[in-house]
Amino acid sequence: MTASALPPGPRFALLQAAGYMRNPLSYLEGLQRRWGNVFSVPYPTFGRLVYVAEPDAIEKIFKGDPADYHAGEGNAGPLEPLMGSRSVFVLDEAEHMRERKLLLPRFHGKRIERYAEVMADLTAREVERWPVGERFALLPRMQWLGLEVLLRTVFGVDDPARLALYHERVPHMGKIANLVVWVPATRRDLGRFSPWARFVRARAAVHELIYDEIDRARRDPALEERQDILALLLQARHDDGSPMSRDELRDELMTVIAAGHETTATALSWLFERTLRHPQVEERLRAEIEAGDDAYIDATATETLRSRPIVTDIIRRVKRDVEVAGWKLPAETFTIPSIALVHLREDIYPEPHAFRPERFLGVKPGTYTWLPFGGGVRRCIGAPFAMLELRTIARTVFENVRLRAADQRPETPRARHVTIAPARGAEVVLEERLRRRSRPLAAAATPS
Ligand code: HEM
Repeated sequence: MTASALPPGPRFALLQAAGYMRNPLSYLEGLQRRWGNVFSVPYPTFGRLVYVAEPDAIEKIFKGDPADYHAGEGNAGPLEPLMGSRSVFVLDEAEHMRERKLLLPRFHGKRIERYAEVMADLTAREVERWPVGERFALLPRMQWLGLEVLLRTVFGVDDPARLALYHERVPHMGKIANLVVWVPATRRDLGRFSPWARFVRARAAVHELIYDEIDRARRDPALEERQDILALLLQARHDDGSPMSRDELRDELMTVIAAGHETTATALSWLFERTLRHPQVEERLRAEIEAGDDAYIDATATETLRSRPIVTDIIRRVKRDVEVAGWKLPAETFTIPSIALVHLREDIYPEPHAFRPERFLGVKPGTYTWLPFGGGVRRCIGAPFAMLELRTIARTVFENVRLRAADQRPETPRARHVTIAPARGAEVVLEERLRRRSRPLAAAATPS
């Protein structure tokens, strides 16, 4: 083990941030080529981050004592203003587990299967609105759909007027949040029109809707029959028998919005961006959907998340001196298990830039080599939900329309909020409506 020095890496923080924003995947790959699978990089607000693209080391981090590896502390830096201080995302150790234990069972794969029908219906209706023969970007349409799915299934909203208010206020908050999330120096109230004051107003407008949702649900005499996740959370109890408080619920619902709609929408946009540029994949996908087999569509979703991970890395702050991949990291170092760099390793995925769903046909993705949802006690709570959405929405779109890429050149990955999105928003042209009726939806098999 090397005594206490951090692994080597580049020197200039702002250059790193600029390179990342332009094309996160090729920027990170460049660092990997130059420095190997473990290196450190200076970033403006975090100091030197230690990137790790070694599955063995990542396994050790994921299995490590949560008291030694704080994810919440790392997440809180950018995300606490958006998600709130009681969010499962920003807490650590016992407080984190307390929240996770209530949320996790409600997002369990088997439990959420019932939402597939809502997802398919909403998609079929959304596709009806797409123009024929005109170029348009899928990403905003998928964002709309992703939010609508969460509002109906997690929040239990079905009133069109209230849905419309969310669709107005959430994207507005998202737009303003970007600066506040990435530049902590902007988190000061410097007058009514300062970024922070505008963000706080936009957030309060969303909080108002969420409080209203919680209060309505509490008054609902039919609460016990409801299927949405808010209704379940209102009836859930912590180990000490206490219910979730109003602010706790608000923060978890904000977390679901922030963590769960842009991510899934971006994944779907990439799924179409990739598939429409690989005719053999599209052909096979259509044939298997027609035959009623979901294995290939699941493999396509899995390969999409491998080759275009929506989030490039996850974060852990080490709380005591630990050894990672042969380096002794001092307490308080941020270490970054690099999802993108593990996914692009030639020795794990031969020809890593090729888009090949066959890699995952009949093969369970590796726990430490396929990491789009992170891992260990911090693994994404919404992973089964996201995989169900990918499968159901993609299938319904392919059943209903024929799309083509507006331009055959691949779209560049661009940093967008906390995700990596196609630079042109996955631009397509709808060539033909197929007017097929969706077959009844089966349960989703979620890679774990
Ligand atoms: C393709 C879509 C998605 C991707 C790529 C994604 C990715 C991630 C990643 C990388 C993490 C951090 C894991 C770690 O630190 O090890 C995470 C955490 C989380 N995600 Fe997702 N996510 C997606 C969809 C969703 C959805 C739909 C929801 C909710 C409905 C959700 C809720 C959460 C929550 C609550 C956490 C925090 C877990 C914890 O700290 O214990 N995510 N997600």
